[in-house]
Amino acid sequence: MAAMALAFTRDEPERLSVALIAHDARKDEMAEWAAFNADTLSNCDIYATATTASSVARKLDLRINTLLSGPLGGDAQVGALISEGRIHVVFFFWDPLTPQPHDVDVKMLLRLAVLHDVPIACNRSSADLLISSPLFTDLGYHFREQGEHVGERISVWVRLIRSDDLARCRYVFEHTTSEDRYCRFFQFKEDLDDAQLRQFVELGDNVVGLLAERGDEPVGMAHAWIDGRDSAELGIIVSRDARRQGVGRRLVERLATELRARGVKELFAYTLAENVSFAALARSLGLTRTGVEAGVATYRRSL
Ligand SMILES: CC(C)(COP(=O)(O)OP(=O)(O)OC[C@H]1O[C@@H](n2cnc3c(N)ncnc32)[C@H](O)[C@@H]1OP(=O)(O)O)[C@@H](O)C(=O)NCCC(=O)NCCS
Repeated sequence: MAAMALAFTRDEPERLSVALIAHDARKDEMAEWAAFNADTLSNCDIYATATTASSVARKLDLRINTLLSGPLGGDAQVGALISEGRIHVVFFFWDPLTPQPHDVDVKMLLRLAVLHDVPIACNRSSADLLISSPLFTDLGYHFREQGEHVGERISVWVRLIRSDDLARCRYVFEHTTSEDRYCRFFQFKEDLDDAQLRQFVELGDNVVGLLAERGDEPVGMAHAWIDGRDSAELGIIVSRDARRQGVGRRLVERLATELRARGVKELFAYTLAENVSFAALARSLGLTRTGVEAGVATYRRSL
């Protein structure tokens, strides 16, 4: 069977993150397998434990995020990435014949992959079947667990905003009331023109923007402006008919993950003191109200 170059079936900014781990007796096999599947793997963000990364790198030119070696904590790092939803598929060629000093980490990794329903192939034939499945390249399949079934059981997908999302951001604003927009901007905004909307989609390095979608419909967005002193300011709005279904919470939780990955230590928000919806959202997320001044409340949370 020849390796195929597969195009991912959803045009998302996010890519599949794949972990490669091989114990010593299986490293050559892993390198050979990775070389065989190089075209497919080159469409993914690759994470590999240190020695596996060097064996694979000797066989093919692939950009690899190198973790610690397994016995020094690499398997544990992959387990942590799985728990945070940052690894979507694991290829783990482990050696069942040799006792490993880090057996507990291996067990932990297998447990976390199963717990979080992350596909994991532990031998070459499973790996062949997994990577050649049409589902492997279907981002909609892998990211389905990023949605959350809450309240009225809507399934929400949260992703990073990209520069061509202007119409989708407009759609969110158009599905809010002028009161909602007042809560968001502290001033009445009936219309947002393209120039105003662009600041929500053309994001510099110090801004993280997330869009929540229910099926194909945009239902909310959240931004965080990093102020350069390890903290970031939150701005969030959810469309009227998607309220109180966990969209806001889902957006802020994902924002917190993105900010932590950038080293940001604290999230804060300014809202109208009487904004009960935000107060409820803040409560559910552990954001603490730290003060009120001139009718504006401040909320903070460590990340
Ligand atoms: C604040 C806002 C983003 C919340 O979004 P949301 O998607 O409705 O929030 P969630 O559904 O995730 O709610 C989180 C929790 O707050 C509760 N909650 C939300 N709105 C509530 C309300 N009006 N009254 C009581 N509880 C409320 C939810 O029931 C949920 O509780 P739970 O954790 O016990 O299940 C939304 O109301 C909004 O867009 N408001 C206008 C803009 C704004 O005020 N932005 C904030 C300033 S930047």
